[in-house]
Amino acid sequence: MLETEQFEARKRDHITYALKTENEAIGESGLDRVALVHEALPEFNFSEVTMTSCSLDEASATPFLVSSMTGGHSQSSAMNLCMARLCAERGWWMGVGSQRRELHDSSARIEWREIRKAVPSAVLLGNLGIAQVIQTEPGIISSLVENLEAKSMIVHLNALQECLQVEGTPDFAGGLESLARLVKRLHVPVVVKETGCGISQMTARRLVEAGVHAIDVGGFGGTHWGRIEGARAPSESIQQAAAQTFANWGIRTVDSVRDVQNACEGTKTEMWASGGVRSGLDAAKLIALGANRVGFAKPILEAAMKGEAALRLRMELIEYELKIALFCTGSRTLNDLRGKVR
Ligand SMILES: Cc1cc2nc3c(=O)[nH]c(=O)nc-3n(C[C@H](O)[C@H](O)[C@H](O)COP(=O)(O)O)c2cc1C
Repeated sequence: MLETEQFEARKRDHITYALKTENEAIGESGLDRVALVHEALPEFNFSEVTMTSCSLDEASATPFLVSSMTGGHSQSSAMNLCMARLCAERGWWMGVGSQRRELHDSSARIEWREIRKAVPSAVLLGNLGIAQVIQTEPGIISSLVENLEAKSMIVHLNALQECLQVEGTPDFAGGLESLARLVKRLHVPVVVKETGCGISQMTARRLVEAGVHAIDVGGFGGTHWGRIEGARAPSESIQQAAAQTFANWGIRTVDSVRDVQNACEGTKTEMWASGGVRSGLDAAKLIALGANRVGFAKPILEAAMKGEAALRLRMELIEYELKIALFCTGSRTLNDLRGKVR
């Protein structure tokens, strides 16, 4: 199989397996154990509630982010365009899927150029894996940012997935140094995220020291790449057997949020939250715990596969749920919600 065909087949597999519930660590995020403090007498009207948020020095109508997801199927371009349009319309940010292919195949850049032209107001965030960042000159990464007119570059960490993927590249030596170099050389902020195994306090401290602008915890409790790669691996392979051993590997989203929040406290680095976020109420809990921005991957993918109307409805529902949580905790703004957890 040609390299591009292999890449596309892998990405299609990822979507197929990500949509299966058994590949989600649902119920493990810790969100069920966090409760917001109900306010029986809010003393203002529901219409006064605002979700306006500010991160990376930019204001937006909501604190939501469509977490980075690679396409790889025949409708992925149309789906990305639809997501970008709705994000622009509703004030969400959108992380694009890994731009790894664009490093070697300039035709892959055209798709995003066209989406950017069609939706100039969308806030798009670039994406690359740490293994690519280590191997790539910051100048080349900068050209990906320019092509996309990206607000920032997200670098994803996916150690478990790279170990269990038959074609994986678990080559992370020099990762922190590469991140520090990228922060210095890029003219946009650098965000570092996990993809479902979370980030510890110690790692967050190292990332803060490297100067990254935001850390998205990408915690355990949602899409799980160990389970997905296990499902993809050839039957009776060692990858398949090891994936079962590591099916519950990761730091729960809520624990990671607390850890990363501690590391970011008093610094300029923002804490973002994702991993198993399935409703506006989940998002509210994470904002109450200190998150600046909250990301959704699988719920958005699922809705987007059904079409524009389904995606709009899902986004509307998430926004409505966050507003209810704000009203019922007596919070007019996201800042008012901070700390209202029991
Ligand atoms: C189909 C699919 C493709 C993904 N591709 C990427 C990617 O290219 N880069 C990345 O940083 N994360 C990628 N992710 C991980 C998500 O951004 C997110 O971290 C993870 O799915 C956990 O969020 P969730 O529980 O809301 O799905 C992908 C997720 C899915 C479901």
